[in-house]
Amino acid sequence: MRKQIVAGNWKMNNDLSQTESLISELTNKKQTSNAEVMIAPTFTNLYKAFEALRETSIEVIAQNMHFAENGAYTGEISASMLKSVGVNTVILGHSERREYFNETDELLAKKVDAALENQMRIIFCFGEVLADRKSGNQEKVVESQIKNALFHLDAAAFKNIVLAYEPVWAIGTGETASPEQAQDMHAFIRKTLANKYGKDVANNMSILYGGSVKPNNAKEIFSKPDVDGGLIGGAALNADDFFAIVNAF
Ligand code: 13P
Repeated sequence: MRKQIVAGNWKMNNDLSQTESLISELTNKKQTSNAEVMIAPTFTNLYKAFEALRETSIEVIAQNMHFAENGAYTGEISASMLKSVGVNTVILGHSERREYFNETDELLAKKVDAALENQMRIIFCFGEVLADRKSGNQEKVVESQIKNALFHLDAAAFKNIVLAYEPVWAIGTGETASPEQAQDMHAFIRKTLANKYGKDVANNMSILYGGSVKPNNAKEIFSKPDVDGGLIGGAALNADDFFAIVNAF
């Protein structure tokens, strides 16, 4: 059985006291689904979040990391630094990193390697922009993003990878991919994996959808056979909304 996962990407939101109060609200919520639940606060609040959630089933994950182990990379954070504060999972390849910080597939391949060498789990994000979707190139774009950053890995590495399809045109816009559009792309992604690594890897891969998932659309999106959960932005900043999504399975 593939894991169902709902991960909240807080992006650059919530200072320390806001982080503490949102976490205390989250810990008061009742989970009725079997999904793994994760939250990704900003770097400065990871340790506090980890301490506060240590006894719970909510995992604290990071939004990004550098590929180097340490050294002269001012402003950056390494995998071992994340691990030292209790973080074992990292989001890589988010479209905002690609767009605003010029992260390329080649750079992401290095980050993927560094995370795996440090025994970290990765939520690897990718997705097409609106122009690609309009010109019908979405599958080509997604295939090349996956191939360029991940297809140098061996099959065993995929045990530590979760994929997150996030069409850029649906992020923070209130415009969601229809459940059918999500399903079609997720099935395509699974087929792409199967072609390269075989059916076992493909069938065991959790593929999350991200892009304006809200309490009122999560159930329908998660009901699709190849959608194994969600990567949630805006709605993850509200405890009621986030848990409504967690419990939408
Ligand atoms: P929204 O849910 O705000 O559209 O953000 C999605 C996202 O980028 C999660 O990583």
